[in-house]
Amino acid sequence: MSGFSPEWLDLREPADHRARDSVLAQQMAAHFAARAHVSVVDLGCGSGSNLRGTAQFLPDHQSWLLVDYDAQLLTWARERLVDWADDSRSEGDLLRLRKDHKHIDVSFAEADLTRELTQVLTPAPDLVTAAALFDLVSEPWLELFTAVLSAAGLPLYTVLSYDGRQEWQPVHPQDGPVLRAFNSHQQWDKGFGPATGPRASAVLAGLLAARGYAVHTATSPWLLGPDDSGLQRELATGIAAAALETKDVAQEEAADWLAARREPGHATIGHSDIFATPQPY
Ligand SMILES: C[S@@+](CC[C@H](N)C(=O)[O-])C[C@H]1O[C@@H](n2cnc3c(N)ncnc32)[C@H](O)[C@@H]1O
Repeated sequence: MSGFSPEWLDLREPADHRARDSVLAQQMAAHFAARAHVSVVDLGCGSGSNLRGTAQFLPDHQSWLLVDYDAQLLTWARERLVDWADDSRSEGDLLRLRKDHKHIDVSFAEADLTRELTQVLTPAPDLVTAAALFDLVSEPWLELFTAVLSAAGLPLYTVLSYDGRQEWQPVHPQDGPVLRAFNSHQQWDKGFGPATGPRASAVLAGLLAARGYAVHTATSPWLLGPDDSGLQRELATGIAAAALETKDVAQEEAADWLAARREPGHATIGHSDIFATPQPY
């Protein structure tokens, strides 16, 4: 198990889909518009939310490889995709979906990206994508990743990397200390070495630009209101637990902050998206 529960991924999916930057999505759509078919690899796919959010922007015929190291999430992804599609059919391990006018073939790979990155990108797809993944990874891993991407000349579309910014309403005296502790926890090792956390997008964009990519970035904040109270409560619970683990905030202060944040309110949680294409020399 990865520590990302299906319940948490389900809870965040509507906010994730609302938050994606639409201009960047349209730029990505325009890049592939002339093609009849695209192949896509989704790294750290979880329950398949990224496919459900991205397929509408890609040509009518698509093949996806969904990659995760959590076998239970891959099983859940298959079930969620069957529920989401208008029509579905299994051919061995391959799942064939129809959604609106899109024909989407989906394969699944249980693979650990710390060890099997090259394998999952072979043969090379037309597009590499990932949602809410890169803030978990280290700078050396991003260096390796961008080297692999660039060697194969692959475009990248990634959404929802956490950028360290949070604003909660109404304000609370512990907002600053809890956010600082949480952002420091975000840089702890999540399996790839010390995580880039809030710096993920800036580091990734810089590495891609250094390899000659045209890099487009946009912000994609979660804008949460009283209708998202379930997500806000779970998010606040996770933030308070992580902040406490750093020992930079006291138990009482974290508990006080969490009690306030479990009440319906408003929150803006910063993320960013990147669309990057290799430039011809
Ligand atoms: C925050 S979740 C995002 C899931 C999904 N992309 C989404 O947007 O809902 C991060 C995902 O990365 C996966 N993951 C983390 N470390 C991984 C690794 N070393 N290899 C493969 N997958 C990994 C987790 O299992 C999880 O599904």
